[in-house]
Amino acid sequence: MLPLVRTAHDFRRACQEARLDGPLALVPTMGYLHEGHISLIRAARQAAPTVAATIFVNPAQFAPHEDLQRYPRDMEGDLRKCEAAGASFVFAPSGPEEMYPPGFQTYVDPGPLAQPLCGASRPGHFRGVCTVVAKLFALSRAECAFFGEKDYQQLLVIRRMAHDLNLGTDVVGRPIVREKDGLALSSRNAYLSSEERPRALGLWRALSEARARFAAGERDVPTLERAVAETLDRHGLRADYAELRDPVELQRPAQADGSTRLFIAAFAGKTRLIDNGALGEAG
Ligand code: PAJ
Repeated sequence: MLPLVRTAHDFRRACQEARLDGPLALVPTMGYLHEGHISLIRAARQAAPTVAATIFVNPAQFAPHEDLQRYPRDMEGDLRKCEAAGASFVFAPSGPEEMYPPGFQTYVDPGPLAQPLCGASRPGHFRGVCTVVAKLFALSRAECAFFGEKDYQQLLVIRRMAHDLNLGTDVVGRPIVREKDGLALSSRNAYLSSEERPRALGLWRALSEARARFAAGERDVPTLERAVAETLDRHGLRADYAELRDPVELQRPAQADGSTRLFIAAFAGKTRLIDNGALGEAG
């Protein structure tokens, strides 16, 4: 059975010991693992002899009206998947107070990269993400940590934080893993009803539509965004945002090029889904 660590103290100790054998790679997650998470663990295993996976539904990154209470959980299944993918041990804090003990009051305040897109629609979200990831980096002192491009803005914000705060952990991004039909894997897909699941494909269709128009020569940002909005609409999705941004600073480009990324957040019923991709990438 894969070793399961329940306290921050034991996690620090386990990582310290592991680092005697060479580099340590970290894969932070909120659990309910799918092939997207697994791909990160596998990539981490390629990079380092020891891989620490973490499973923690981090209250600090959820707003009061969000899905913290009903976020899907399956610790037993997750441990099996972590082991099969090559994780060396798992840190799953026994409760929120293990990461946020009484008296906790210090948070990481990310800058402009955390302001648009998910930062605008989920105020405080990236502050919560950065705080917990900074704690995981500090406890583990991992050489590298793996994150998915599924949460592209999160990846940039965390990479910036690690650099700005000299955390000493190299932040590695990995491509989005999708279902056969194109839907990006997400723990939140478990919320989708049988009627919502086909509608959820609208995010992928919208990204494909933007790529097709770009390939056909369209470079006008509002025109591309309009086509995306129409596709989301046709699938009965309520867009939270659907915007083109540059892949480094997340600024609005004057004109689209191949590296310009489309970022989408949209609701299928009550479920908020996100997706993104570069216009110049093959679908
Ligand atoms: P979670 O949503 O569980 O995702 C954990 C990691 O898996 C993130 O780096 C995310 O980008 C990656 N991931 C999710 N779906 C993916 C997919 N379809 N393809 C590739 N990678 C995918 O992101 C979080 O948790 C939290 O914010 C966390 C960083 C753990 C901080 O609490």
